[in-house]
Amino acid sequence: VLVTAGPTWEAIDPVRYIANRSSGKQGFAIAAAAAALGARVTLVAGPVALKTPVGVARIDVESAREMADAVRRAMPADVAVMVAAVADWRPKEYRAEKIKKRGDAPPALMLTENPDILTNVATAQRRPELVIGFAAETENMLEHARAKRKRKGADWIVANDVSGNVMGGDENRVTIISGDGIETLEEMPKAAVAMALMERVAASLRAEAAE
Ligand code: C5P
Repeated sequence: VLVTAGPTWEAIDPVRYIANRSSGKQGFAIAAAAAALGARVTLVAGPVALKTPVGVARIDVESAREMADAVRRAMPADVAVMVAAVADWRPKEYRAEKIKKRGDAPPALMLTENPDILTNVATAQRRPELVIGFAAETENMLEHARAKRKRKGADWIVANDVSGNVMGGDENRVTIISGDGIETLEEMPKAAVAMALMERVAASLRAEAAE
């Protein structure tokens, strides 16, 4: 099982970066749950202050491009759960020297698009049997999550409403959207969300194997 977690940092210059509020807690909990259920787990983690779950092989990265490379190298996998809050954009140009404050016009920050790791995994030649993406939304959650599942070629999308304090918090309420339908779980600790999700993953793999 291959899991991504945490934010990515996109460097502007040697001291500044663009980031987001992802704590990595949900992704780490998923890696821990998968390992507890007996899977061999690789966790590709952005910059977070979390302990490596027992039995998990962790690869630390900083930027989206580093994460994309690490994920490519960690394949093939039977299951990919892409939980990381990957920065959509990075500064177009990295400045090797610290940008100086001079004059009164602040510098313009030009952005360029990062690789979409989930889409890369879902369209890879040796695609994991089950590719799961997350959708952090603040509005029209289900509609956006359904569209995301199609657009990114994921098998399941786990949607969560991040307008509250999910990011950084210890509880989460998720809706799992698959080809078979929609299931909304109760709000519960992220560790319990992780176990519920990984139990469904295991059941799905068993069902596939039985066919
Ligand atoms: O489009 P959005 O970023 O909301 O999609 C979220 C899902 O896509 C998450 O599973 C996230 O890990 C994944 N993603 C990715 N690479 C990106 C952007 C998002 O893997 N560059």
